Amino acid sequence: MILALETSCDDTCAAVVSEDGRIESNVIASQGLLHARYGGVVPEIASRHHLELVDAVTADALERAGRRLDDVDTVAVTRGPGLIGALLVGVSSAKAIAATRRLPLVPVDHLHGHVVASTLGENAVEAPYLCLVASGGHTFLARVDDPASYEVLGQTLDDAAGEAFDKGARLLGLGYPGGPAIDRLAPKGDPEAFDFPRSAPGELDFSFSGLKTALLYAIRDLGDSAAQHSRDLAASYQRAIVDALVSRIQAALEREGIERLAIGGGVAANSELREAVARLDMPVWIPPIELCTDNAAMIAGAARFLEPIPYPGYLDLDAAARL
Ligand code: KG4
Ligand code: ZN
Repeated sequence: MILALETSCDDTCAAVVSEDGRIESNVIASQGLLHARYGGVVPEIASRHHLELVDAVTADALERAGRRLDDVDTVAVTRGPGLIGALLVGVSSAKAIAATRRLPLVPVDHLHGHVVASTLGENAVEAPYLCLVASGGHTFLARVDDPASYEVLGQTLDDAAGEAFDKGARLLGLGYPGGPAIDRLAPKGDPEAFDFPRSAPGELDFSFSGLKTALLYAIRDLGDSAAQHSRDLAASYQRAIVDALVSRIQAALEREGIERLAIGGGVAANSELREAVARLDMPVWIPPIELCTDNAAMIAGAARFLEPIPYPGYLDLDAAARL
């Protein structure tokens, strides 16, 4: 039984997962509303709330799983990348829980968690597969031959896809987080009303900063009438992001000769992206929303494939903003 903690950004998460990938509980305490009024995550506020929430969230995860600390064999925790103060809360808590019981600890790369989220649950993807991870901080395509690791085939050269959603939403006056707001508005607009650019910097790389600038100019050109066009702007903007993601997925599948696709990261919660990849002519693993956005089940999921550090070897383990 693995108890995992994840506190890399603004969600305080704990989960209990079995060695074979059965999710017994997956608790997510979102701080989203607290940060909304600042238009983005404020690192210091996030750290303080993690500190207040982490014990309760851990206790809740155990209770929902019908387990006690005595049932836990391994503790897993996100080591990075992320906000350093936020990560420190999870790493310190995980070390304390593990050390008092002399349990082994597995430090996990947050992105590895997103890559293997689709290996959890009953209908798990099996390697080899291609995975698109698109989140607020990262966007990349990975080849997974063995879920213990992954090979990055291409990545964004500037903004992450989630960042493009968040910045676009801000320009449209839709608030934070922007992805869900654009996702809700886009179906009411015409995705072909505005011809936004789909830049192709490299075969399997992404670039979203030009798209964001194109939206800025479109809003500026519309002047006072921009508000009347917000649905069409949102629909066209979302279409441009989804097109860019799907075209690189197709190029990677073709180049690598892989026949299974999984998606992960917060942007994998996007309805249009989910529909677009489901239309691809191959088996596609689309995780439930709670496994796309940040969660601790995916951290336990990755820990299953990694070598645990026995007590007391992890006592000097540090969080890492970058890995
Ligand atoms: O993976 P995640 O929860 O946190 C990071 O590790 O970054 O991803 C958060 C990102 C945010 O940029 C958010 O706007 C985006 O995922 N997101 C979405 C949707 N839900 C969350 N983007 C598009 N459509 C959505 N439905
Ligand atoms: Zn994430």
